[in-house]
Amino acid sequence: MKRLAIFASGNGTNAQRITEYFANNGDIHVELIIYNKKDAYVAQRARNLGVPAHYFKRTAFESGEVRDFLLTKHIDYVILAGFLLLVPQNLLDSFPNRIINIHPALLPKYGGRGMYGEHVHEAVIAAREKESGITIHVIDGNYDQGTTLYQAKCTVTGEDTPDTLAQKIHVLEQQYFPKVIEDYIVNNG
Ligand code: GAR
Repeated sequence: MKRLAIFASGNGTNAQRITEYFANNGDIHVELIIYNKKDAYVAQRARNLGVPAHYFKRTAFESGEVRDFLLTKHIDYVILAGFLLLVPQNLLDSFPNRIINIHPALLPKYGGRGMYGEHVHEAVIAAREKESGITIHVIDGNYDQGTTLYQAKCTVTGEDTPDTLAQKIHVLEQQYFPKVIEDYIVNNG
């Protein structure tokens, strides 16, 4: 059994989708959700799903407290699902090639510090891009970098607003993120 910890900072639609996707899977299971903003709606979603959710402040990630907690829970993989802090080296060292992120654009474009959520969609529209999409990747120590596992695209039209583009991206995320996680774990062991 591979145990997943999901890290999230906000709404938690991806966290919910991933948890539900693996609910009846005998090999992969969402063990817990970790969040770093006290009022994040993902905590309510976790309660509804019956998944333990744990709040940690930023310094607990950097100090190694979160890493130690994950090790006591025998976590195998960390999934970043709308998690907005930079993952510190201690977690990268303890989970080598085992931390997977989703980004709501076609990296390497529109990534990096400050590029999250609606900021990404605003930048894509301001640049008059004809397409955007999602990037699912194994992380390294830099924001939105690492090894790409999968990208999916959607069109961007002159009528799109950050909200309508976010909805298109949301559909792609719901469709592909759990399956890409599953394939990676099955192949990676
Ligand atoms: C998602 O669109 C995800 O791709 C994005 O935040 C949103 C979280 O939504 N992540 C980033 O921007 C990371 N740089 P959710 O909380 O409803 O899953």
